[in-house]
Amino acid sequence: MTILRKLQLSAAAVALSTTGVVAQEVEVLHWWTSGGEAAALNVLREDLAGSGIGWTDMPVAGGGGSDAMTVLRARVTAGDPPTAVQMLGFSIQDWAAEGALANLNDLAAEQNWDDVVPAALQRFSTYDGDWVAAPVNVHSTNWVWANTALMEELGIEQPGTWDEFVAAMQAAQDAGYTALAHGGQAWQDATIFDSMVMGVGGPEFYQAAMVDLDPEALGSAQMVEAFERMAVLRGFVDDNFSGRDWNLASAMVANGDALFQIMGDWAKGEFINAGQTAGEEFQCFRVPGTEGTVTFNSDQFAMFNVTDAAAMEAQAAMASAVMSPEFQVAFNTVKGSVPARTDISPEAFDACGQMGMAQLAEAAASGGLFGSMAHGHANNPSVQNAMYDVITAHFNGEYDAETAAQEMVTAVELAM
Ligand code: GAL
Repeated sequence: MTILRKLQLSAAAVALSTTGVVAQEVEVLHWWTSGGEAAALNVLREDLAGSGIGWTDMPVAGGGGSDAMTVLRARVTAGDPPTAVQMLGFSIQDWAAEGALANLNDLAAEQNWDDVVPAALQRFSTYDGDWVAAPVNVHSTNWVWANTALMEELGIEQPGTWDEFVAAMQAAQDAGYTALAHGGQAWQDATIFDSMVMGVGGPEFYQAAMVDLDPEALGSAQMVEAFERMAVLRGFVDDNFSGRDWNLASAMVANGDALFQIMGDWAKGEFINAGQTAGEEFQCFRVPGTEGTVTFNSDQFAMFNVTDAAAMEAQAAMASAVMSPEFQVAFNTVKGSVPARTDISPEAFDACGQMGMAQLAEAAASGGLFGSMAHGHANNPSVQNAMYDVITAHFNGEYDAETAAQEMVTAVELAM
């Protein structure tokens, strides 16, 4: 990194950008294509437009980011990286290790990112001591989204245990509703699996299996039980789930066709986008068995190394905008996530958002905060993909629970 480049990715560049002297533009690769996600993305686009920064959209549909990362690799291999990329956890680290990401240290120092971004996020936003990404949010993945009217009709209270959760789904199924709205994509299966692992084994087991990749934990009786619970969930999913996008599953809950969805709080963005309110038409609670813990992921924007001065200035302006406290409120209240900064008041957030912020802080303080495997924050992309394959094969009936646990051991070993 040259000194010139470092200077340009700083506030001086931001100041220049707002004068509109140079025609600036960011090309942003992202996977925010659902209604709620697009509404949140618009907050960012408009924020930048207000500073005279143009936007070239590079959306990759599919949710979860798997397809977006394939497209990114192709763009970089072709020598044509986008200027800014939505990225998760260990992927940021991999791209930084390749030397592909711009250094944001000057901007971070000017804006004090060290003090306002929690350690759990800095672990992914920095590489080798350098800031390489600007975190937009914190999502947490161990949520259940529920249709309030349907709960009332079926006489269901928020379940506090796995057995109560199963009984509630049984009641919905018996009454002719879809008990669990789910889509058929590997990352969606993996999202619910994170919660089954946490629910069965608790924080120590989650750490041993998903983060430390301890073969004993991966092949243990607890892992078998996590897979058994996945099979129970599979029994409550409707026949048409194959290939369904996650936001269509959220819509089933919003419309009252389905009782529950287990999904990260980006699902809340869909309910809000449909004009619903947390605690009224829909409600949120932690996946039974995971209370007190939070499995999280954080969307961050990494800036790819470019040589064009105007593009560098636009990158700095974008990173700066993303980290502003006002933007973090405006964006996250729409997205369903909570701010990546620790100095933001929960006031503007709805009931689920306020609960999310409080629980995130509690989990961080009590050792209950863990990166989501499904969303790239527990282990590297090759291990993650190996886990995806086993989880999805089991969910679709290819393996029984015992075999799936054994396959986890083997697949992870090969991927490490
Ligand atoms: C996650 C991402 C969220 C949300 C979700 C579904 O990986 O962090 O922002 O967009 O995928 O697409």
